[in-house]
Amino acid sequence: MKTQPFILAIESSCDETSAAVLKGKEVLSNIIAGQLVHGKYGGVVPELASRAHQSNIVPVVKQALSEAGLKNDQIDAIAFTQGPGLMGSLLVGTSFAKSLSLSLQKPLIAVNHMQAHILAHFISNQQERYPGFPFLCLTVSGGHTQIVLVKDYLEMKIIGETRDDAAGEAFDKAAKLLGLPYPGGPHVDKQAKLGNAERFKFPHPQVADYDYSFSGLKTSLLYFLKGEITNNPNFIEENKADICASYQRSVVDYTLKKFMKAALDLNIQYLCLAGGVSANSELRSSFLTLCEKTDKEAFIPPFVYCTDNAAMIGIAAYFKYEKQEFADLTYSPLSRMPL
Ligand code: KG4
Ligand code: ZN
Repeated sequence: MKTQPFILAIESSCDETSAAVLKGKEVLSNIIAGQLVHGKYGGVVPELASRAHQSNIVPVVKQALSEAGLKNDQIDAIAFTQGPGLMGSLLVGTSFAKSLSLSLQKPLIAVNHMQAHILAHFISNQQERYPGFPFLCLTVSGGHTQIVLVKDYLEMKIIGETRDDAAGEAFDKAAKLLGLPYPGGPHVDKQAKLGNAERFKFPHPQVADYDYSFSGLKTSLLYFLKGEITNNPNFIEENKADICASYQRSVVDYTLKKFMKAALDLNIQYLCLAGGVSANSELRSSFLTLCEKTDKEAFIPPFVYCTDNAAMIGIAAYFKYEKQEFADLTYSPLSRMPL
């Protein structure tokens, strides 16, 4: 039997420094160091993110190797996120991976972060069923919202995407207006569980084809709050759960409506959710309900592989390793990167 490669993967595209070790498609370790430093600024400060990556990267990689029970020289390849992401953050992971590859004389694998979110579906831990090809994936993160037609592991095509804010920003910006901490998505989700989603209505933006727009949703919330606060200065505090529930319902319904239309139009049987916003409880449950109603097969990766993590970089690297698609020392990070 063919032996499975050990891949060390590094993710540093935004504000999580993460390193993972995979044996084939199985995750042996997945260490994620968050960066609390951004909380007080209400958003990621790129310069501070690069500095935090710089101090986190050595201990995070060391811990990933030690939890996997491996020594440096047992690794078969080193994978890194090439893009898209914050340039300073990507530079830390890329440079570290290149130096390690040079010193250990092991091949390098460059990974596209958005492809990795999608390929997280194929991590073998905690997952017994996998989507067949072709499948349609709704990738919803803090920086991207894409409907992707996946023809094979490394053959993907965007058929719709946001023209302005990402779905994650729709959550994070709303949370900011409501005085919730950053990143706001999980806080809106938590509040929404306590509220009435039918109480307030927010209009769905009109955009052609399978594209999205989320900036209007946030603006409609802003004007709604401004109007209500003139009558009652405590409006937000007194109605926070209902506002979160109603706003979340609007974002989820809007996002899924377009995605399901694409799936039905293209007659795709396997439907997937990926990216940080797929941790949203209402998005997950509505997605499963809609798939059941339309006789589609639904797939969502386990929680830990939805938000940014290096295990997903490792699984994407595994498929590239299989095809011997290696990078070299001339590779540099790309803040924007085609899928
Ligand atoms: O994929 P990700 O970890 O990082 C990027 O590549 O952007 O996504 C982060 C985004 C943030 O906007 C965060 O607020 C959102 O995912 N998010 C959520 C939830 N958990 C994370 N949004 C809504 N509900 C959640 N439970
Ligand atoms: Zn991401």
